[in-house]
Amino acid sequence: MANVFVPTVAKGPIIRRPSMVALAEKLRFDERAAATLRRLAAKYPASPVLLRLPLRRQAIVLEPQDVHRILAETPDPFATASSEKKAALAHFQPRNSLISTGRERSVRRALQEQVLDSASPVHHLAESFLPVVAEEAGGLLQTARSAGELEWEDFIRSWYRMVRRIVFGDAAADDHELTDMLQQLRSDANWAFLKPRKRRLRSQFLAAVDDRLRAAPPSCLASMMAGMNTQDDAAPVEQIPQWLFAFDPAGMATFRTLAAITAHPEVLSWTVQEATEKRYQREYLPWLRACVLESLRLWPTTPMVLRQATRDVAWDAGTMPAKCGVFIYAPFFHRDERAVPNPHTYTPERWLNDEDGGDWALIPFSEGPAACPGRHLVLMLTSAFLSHLIEGPRLQLESAGRLNVGGNLPGTLNNYSLRFTVLPEGSQN
Ligand code: HEM
Repeated sequence: MANVFVPTVAKGPIIRRPSMVALAEKLRFDERAAATLRRLAAKYPASPVLLRLPLRRQAIVLEPQDVHRILAETPDPFATASSEKKAALAHFQPRNSLISTGRERSVRRALQEQVLDSASPVHHLAESFLPVVAEEAGGLLQTARSAGELEWEDFIRSWYRMVRRIVFGDAAADDHELTDMLQQLRSDANWAFLKPRKRRLRSQFLAAVDDRLRAAPPSCLASMMAGMNTQDDAAPVEQIPQWLFAFDPAGMATFRTLAAITAHPEVLSWTVQEATEKRYQREYLPWLRACVLESLRLWPTTPMVLRQATRDVAWDAGTMPAKCGVFIYAPFFHRDERAVPNPHTYTPERWLNDEDGGDWALIPFSEGPAACPGRHLVLMLTSAFLSHLIEGPRLQLESAGRLNVGGNLPGTLNNYSLRFTVLPEGSQN
């Protein structure tokens, strides 16, 4: 609890607390958590292990094959709607698919899949989205050029302009009202059941989402949602906060990927080549997508994948009782020395060749029936955004030593403190 659960929750499961992320990086919380799980796995070969806790039944998963089983057998007998996830997400989206069950979940999940175009590597609105990406990345580069540096605050401002335009259309680029309200609700959600719900603020927020949904111009995600022929319990408005919320980690992953790419000259040259060759086809950039996946492997933005048993479940080691919480700690599996080759290095090409095989549990977007339905959209937007950034002036990561390139990469990479120097045009260093 002290080495794994508490530090992960302290960083902020729903909205990150920058000071805690900085502390985690300094005190190596994530390395310690993984080491604790390694020790547990060595001690208890029969996974999942049931923890002896006073108030609840909680299992912790330690073997990749068990991760695959649990995620494949979602939502029954392993529901996504675990008690703590419900308590947290109900602060701003009580009828979201992720915390719904039974028929309601099926209807809401299907809606998400349709709007986010989950089955397709390239979203069918790519032609409308990519110019938005180009404009916002271009604006960011201009700011960086004149400041001589690129830092998180500038990046996230441009990133969220892009997000609002893609979700609600161009007029929403600077619509901070909605994202500010969501930010407040998410801060409370970090405390799950320990903080009372602000029902009035939640209603105001959801009403504001509804207004924007009705007013959405064509060719944005909200207009697609508005055009869906939904059933009564689909709750379309409450599916949208998850997007706004989840674009936040997508921004973190993009900025970390930029750091990793610029710190690895070989990777930089492959990706620049791809960006140049595919200047007019940025909807599918396999190399850059692999780079984003690799940074999500090393620094997963959803470290805790939680499930709850809907009934007794038989395992070789015994019975997992109904209502038992199931805890999968992604950073442990993503760098599992028993299964993953070169677990601590930045090796994007591992995502390009399937023959590496192995029984890995690399689950940055989860897997199975509850895998992230926004996965392909995220990869399309993040890779396209990065393609513009690496094509621009040469960006040099400041204090690149903290990445320890060539050695073991750190367990935490504090995105808030990443900073790049803009080198003069034509510079080689
Ligand atoms: C780096 C970015 C992202 C990562 C790593 C990520 C990862 C995940 C993961 C791991 C889950 C499953 C959680 C669980 O099993 O408990 C999930 C669920 C979900 N994600 Fe993402 N996500 C990202 C961004 C997005 C974006 C931008 C959207 C929408 C535009 C999105 C839409 C969703 C939805 C709707 C669900 C709920 C699925 C369900 O109810 O079954 N995600 N995501």
